[in-house]
Amino acid sequence: MHKDCEYILVDEQKIKSLVKELAQKISEDYKDKNLLLVGLLKGSVVFMSDLMKEISVDCKIDFICASSYGTGTVSTGRVNIVKDLSQPIDGVDVLIIEDIIDSGNTLTFMKKYLSAKGAASVKICTLLSKPSRREVDIPIDYLGIEIPDEFVIGYGLDYAEKYRNLPYVGVLKRSVYS
Ligand code: IMP
Ligand code: MG
Repeated sequence: MHKDCEYILVDEQKIKSLVKELAQKISEDYKDKNLLLVGLLKGSVVFMSDLMKEISVDCKIDFICASSYGTGTVSTGRVNIVKDLSQPIDGVDVLIIEDIIDSGNTLTFMKKYLSAKGAASVKICTLLSKPSRREVDIPIDYLGIEIPDEFVIGYGLDYAEKYRNLPYVGVLKRSVYS
């Protein structure tokens, strides 16, 4: 375990089984659809690459980057597009792939933004959710697992751009950021 990690919250084996379950549901639901996975950079990349390998229906991928936390651990509530999609999405069934939903502000914005581009449907798939921190009500179509209000790192998730490469989801030691 990394020295800055307090404890492992979701280990590699658990992540694997969550990803498999999600991919199975998605594959059933998108059988006759025009599926485009849209990963929110950068946190979703590890989850998305594992998830897409388990999806058995045809799909395309793209990425979009919204403004992040900067280097802090608390959301600012403001969202900007830093990198946009590389293709039109008229008539496309978009599935947003996210690492974690915290306040819900980022995804509320993204869902509206992508719908306004003419997508046939826009749904949300997230590996993690912290329901106790929600500021806006947002329906999650595909959820891996709910977690308590702890700042987590690994499996794509960062603190100040570090720890994304850890293969598990762990709780960051408070001494690292306070
Ligand atoms: P929201 O707009 O507050 O829902 O923020 C979601 C984004 O905040 C996620 O995409 C993550 O990048 C980041 N985030 C929220 N909680 C954590 C955490 O515990 N660790 C790392 N990043 C987090
Ligand atoms: Mg993120």
